[in-house]
Amino acid sequence: METLTRIAEVRAACDAARRDGPRVGLVPTMGAFHAGHRSLMRAARGDGGLVVVSLFVNPTQFGPHEDLSAYPRDPEGDAAAAEAEGVDILFSPAVEEMYPETPRTTVHVDGLTERLCGARRPGHFDGVTTVCTKLFAIIGPCAAYFGRKDAQQLAVVRRMVQDLDLPVDVVGCPLVREADGLAMSSRNAYLTADERRAALVLSRALRRVADAVRDGVRRAASLRELLVATIGRERLVALDYAEIVDAATLEPVREIDGEVLVAVAAQVGRARLIDNCTLNVSGQGAVTADLGVVADPSA
Ligand code: PAJ
Repeated sequence: METLTRIAEVRAACDAARRDGPRVGLVPTMGAFHAGHRSLMRAARGDGGLVVVSLFVNPTQFGPHEDLSAYPRDPEGDAAAAEAEGVDILFSPAVEEMYPETPRTTVHVDGLTERLCGARRPGHFDGVTTVCTKLFAIIGPCAAYFGRKDAQQLAVVRRMVQDLDLPVDVVGCPLVREADGLAMSSRNAYLTADERRAALVLSRALRRVADAVRDGVRRAASLRELLVATIGRERLVALDYAEIVDAATLEPVREIDGEVLVAVAAQVGRARLIDNCTLNVSGQGAVTADLGVVADPSA
């Protein structure tokens, strides 16, 4: 594995790889790798070609009172993990390389960014879409792997790629959980032992909703109440939002019909955590629930 820090170098390497035929797979990250990140690298590796992982803690997607300076960083551990996953290039630019001047251009996706996390983190998705556009421009035509852990981010990036005809095949990958159900997140490192135990209520609440839908409940308001009541019982967990929205448009739904996203966010100690599941009710009433996968213990 090569670690590159300059835009020109990684662009040249990707151009050279494409000339030889293989496709380029890109995994955009902010580092502090866990099994969720590694599952994306594995998916990219499995699809073949040159695998590039970008590691850049993007300042423009953090609000002024968010955790940019505290964000976990582990460059050596990350390099070892990426190498073990068969990554070819770790692109790890400095802030000055990505933003030599204060940028005057922002990519904004309308509508989809106004709800859920977008409503609570003003400017966050503009930071994400702008840095992803830059990464796509640097790497060139590629398949880009994103986790369904950040379901809104995935929907926003998909829409941006579609609207701007970017030569990127966006691949959504399963949400990876710890064995006890906690969604993997770099921010889990902020949790104390008690907070970590309390945080399990998020995935438990999602499982309860999935069970209720399997039992025939279809009213979104009832399911939302179930989420709020379940999460409300944990004193260490301050619910930020609990929403049931159309999986593609992210608009709230009244009834569960077709594919919906059940999304929650909460503050647990210093950590802002998000979790979600996707439920699908077919025309015949068959229910499928996607709560993600448990991390491969070898990861
Ligand atoms: P980061 O939070 O580091 O996440 C990088 C990728 O890993 C994202 O696609 C995210 O959805 C995925 N991921 C994180 N936790 C996961 C889990 N438990 N299961 C599956 N996938 C998981 O998301 C970002 O960075 C940034 O916003 C970025 C896209 C890199 C732009 O700066």
